[in-house]
Amino acid sequence: MPSILSADFANLQREIERIPSADALHVDVMDLHFVPNLTLGLPVVKAIRSVTAQMLDIHLMISDPDRWAPQYAEAGAESVTFHVEAAAAPVRLARELRERGARAGMALKPATPVEPYADLLGELDMVLVMTVEPGFGGQSFLDLCLPKIRRARQLISESGGDVWLQVDGGVSVETVERCVEAGADALVAGSAVFAADDPDAMVTRLRELGDAAARWA
Ligand code: DX5
Ligand code: ZN
Repeated sequence: MPSILSADFANLQREIERIPSADALHVDVMDLHFVPNLTLGLPVVKAIRSVTAQMLDIHLMISDPDRWAPQYAEAGAESVTFHVEAAAAPVRLARELRERGARAGMALKPATPVEPYADLLGELDMVLVMTVEPGFGGQSFLDLCLPKIRRARQLISESGGDVWLQVDGGVSVETVERCVEAGADALVAGSAVFAADDPDAMVTRLRELGDAAARWA
């Protein structure tokens, strides 16, 4: 799914219309506190909601998600992901998101281990393993995160739940197969998509590479 972080913010509707093949739109919300960058917030998400029926996958890189995340579910986002490093009560928050009709996602920065959260998987619809430090698009993929993707896949299998495993950061034609072989089944790509001459063709190409890697894995 494309991250609109690398899209032209002055023409978001037009940019969204350039990627009709996307499975979802990944929307990066940053607050200049949890991460050293500021992007967009609830009013812009509501505006995006009003111009597209595509699934909205909100990635909240903000402090105090306990307070703010439920409002994104109320705004009609199908998936809302909070960073566990910032959440005071991740179980309560995940339940609040689900009560509001959204899928509940939990994100992990590169240095945050997944094992301490194994018992939370039943409360979650997605785990997001960041493969760059959150804050900016266009960074290089961190291979050191691959073992964590494998461990997360293992824990999800053991839990028996239907939990998506999303990878975000530095996903491209060079790295997508590594992610899928390690167990990812939801891929975010920002700069790879929007720097391409044909962003929609790149979405399709990345999906095809990922599907092929999944068949061999
Ligand atoms: C980074 C964001 C990512 C970012 C990915 O903090 O969470 O979603 O847009 O961009 P690329 O694909 O360029 O690494
Ligand atoms: Zn993101």
